Amino acid sequence: MNDISTTETRKLRKLITGMPATDGAGVKLTRVIGQPALQELDPFLLLDAFRSDDPDDYIAGFPSHPHRGFETVTYLLEGRMRHKDNAGNEGVIEAGGIQWMTAGRGIIHSEMPEQEDGRLEGFQLWVNLPASHKMTEPAYQEHNASNIPVESRPGTKIRVIAGETSLGTAGPILQPLTEPLYLDVSLDANTAFSEKIAKHHNAFVYVIEGSVTLESDQGGTVSVVRDQLAILTQGATIELESTEQAARFLLIGGKPLGEPIVRSGPFVMNTREELQQAYSDYQSGNF
Ligand code: FE2
Repeated sequence: MNDISTTETRKLRKLITGMPATDGAGVKLTRVIGQPALQELDPFLLLDAFRSDDPDDYIAGFPSHPHRGFETVTYLLEGRMRHKDNAGNEGVIEAGGIQWMTAGRGIIHSEMPEQEDGRLEGFQLWVNLPASHKMTEPAYQEHNASNIPVESRPGTKIRVIAGETSLGTAGPILQPLTEPLYLDVSLDANTAFSEKIAKHHNAFVYVIEGSVTLESDQGGTVSVVRDQLAILTQGATIELESTEQAARFLLIGGKPLGEPIVRSGPFVMNTREELQQAYSDYQSGNF
């Protein structure tokens, strides 16, 4: 007989190490999703991590560029980033803040560091939109650190950006199309963490500090260290532990769309024709 509690606990399916990359006008970053070892993890199309104390690594920023067909999600741990778009929206994302931008039918924007020195650290995640909503009107959900609830458990702090924890703490981001879960979890040393995840959603853990251990689907326990991404098997819960030092990680999940993905640079559509249309709309100023 199957032990249901075991089969429903997610295990590590695959460990991914990010790849050094340069984007924008020369920003050095680590591409974790959207690289040869992990092209996508439906509905997630890209995950970039950036962390540097050297302004030469980030100061050039991301000057004017387009997006169509998905959402860009910027979460800053340190530093400040100014964004401006072609519809006149402008603002600054600060440490601890989140910007969930639905590019939809098209947006042209810049993302530039609002600092000349010090540390810039954060993430950009791309979340796909279903075919029915790729051409939706652009929209923003923006929240600074004080708007993001922090759930406390013994030895544990959880910043809830999107989704809802098993104790009922809900994040401010709403996206019913992919039902994202986006948690930033800090654990003291030797602390166990357990949380529910929608059973058939794809989910991963990305370790920011320290390391965590969890069970592998090959048997045994695996350690996931800083800057590694652990793809999880399907299941209703996750269980992991920190080691002899404190740990911090992102736990991110979402509903897979199961649609064809045809992508090139900043455009992610369902067909080649739609991709060509995106290029011609951008070149003719129809964004
Ligand atoms: Fe962008």
